[in-house]
Amino acid sequence: MIYADYNGSTPICNEVIEYLKNRITEGVYSNPNASHSMGKKIMFNLEKCRRSMAKHLGCKSSQIIFNSGASEGISHIFYSLLNCGPKNNKNIIITSGIEHAAVVRACEHYAKNSYVVLKVNTNTNGVVDLEHFQNLVQDQKGKVALVSIMAANNETGVVQPFKEIGKICQENEIPFFSDTTQYIGKTEFNFSESFMDFAVTSSHKIGGLIGSGVIIAKNPKLLKSHTFGGGQEFGYRGGTQNYIGIECMSVAMDTFQKNLSSLANLRALRDDFEKKLKDKFPKIIIIGEDAPRLASTSLISLPGISGQAVQAELEAQDVYVTTSSACSDSEADTSKVLKSMNITDEVGRGVVRISLCTNANEDLYSRVEKAVTHAYEKIGKK
Ligand SMILES: Cc1ncc(COP(=O)(O)O)c(C=O)c1O
Repeated sequence: MIYADYNGSTPICNEVIEYLKNRITEGVYSNPNASHSMGKKIMFNLEKCRRSMAKHLGCKSSQIIFNSGASEGISHIFYSLLNCGPKNNKNIIITSGIEHAAVVRACEHYAKNSYVVLKVNTNTNGVVDLEHFQNLVQDQKGKVALVSIMAANNETGVVQPFKEIGKICQENEIPFFSDTTQYIGKTEFNFSESFMDFAVTSSHKIGGLIGSGVIIAKNPKLLKSHTFGGGQEFGYRGGTQNYIGIECMSVAMDTFQKNLSSLANLRALRDDFEKKLKDKFPKIIIIGEDAPRLASTSLISLPGISGQAVQAELEAQDVYVTTSSACSDSEADTSKVLKSMNITDEVGRGVVRISLCTNANEDLYSRVEKAVTHAYEKIGKK
């Protein structure tokens, strides 16, 4: 079996499995907010995780708010900044056409509630157009309530110029949220150097458990609690913390940091894999090929061959990929992300996303290459 859908969700990494085995059998279990010693022990551990993650993410531990994952984080950030309605004539949200559904739906919600959503253009490589962004900001001077542009795209792996976007936002005093769900845990990230005001991630994207995540907030005081509760997470998120999920997320992040040096090798392997496919199938298109991309992602298309047919054929070989993002995988149409990159339907309907672990080796890439070759040859002959 080859699992090649790490952008959808990662299997639990070995280090987390080992940690969990001991954790489950040896305890301690308690409410981390309890005043007895067992509760205090868990809270002590939780704060240790916060400090460790803050070190890895380049922020202060007071800037980390634990939650259930990226979708919650995104909703929370939008809620905090926009839910009271436009203030001081600031009714504009600037976003892009390549955002994840969690951002798209948040924008749609606030568009029905007195805000106007403007989209920055994207080039055919899937990179947002900085000049267009700059022009939008100038045209709407003093009216922008939020910029929400992701750091790395989940379908293409293309990395966005978030520092440049953040600098423009800073100069214009606009809050900047960047959806870093795919960026964190796939490449090095330093919040304090990112020019972001808010970032998010999910533990299940980095080798941890499903159901835990973080918001990183430059100024957490801007967050408004969207759940009533007992004042947990400095009052920004009510509800007992998922402490085992948080501990596992911290272990997963430690593991990623330890293996950072393997990323260069991963990129070389991925590029070699794509080159070999291009040599065999000269018409193959690698989406976002000329843009900076996450080292673990390939979005490929052989025009005229359906991506869903390739996915099914790969599954018959016990290889698991998706045709776009896990959330919209059942749609036969070109994805919204690819449409906003002006990718034609012929190419868009053919895409298959191969996203591997950050420690993928030559043997794994070679097995995937053989499986894709077999699938293209078999479907092409029909
Ligand atoms: C870019 C991006 N943002 C947000 C999310 C939402 O993450 P979750 O489902 O963990 O809340 C995902 C998940 O696929 C994603 O890829």
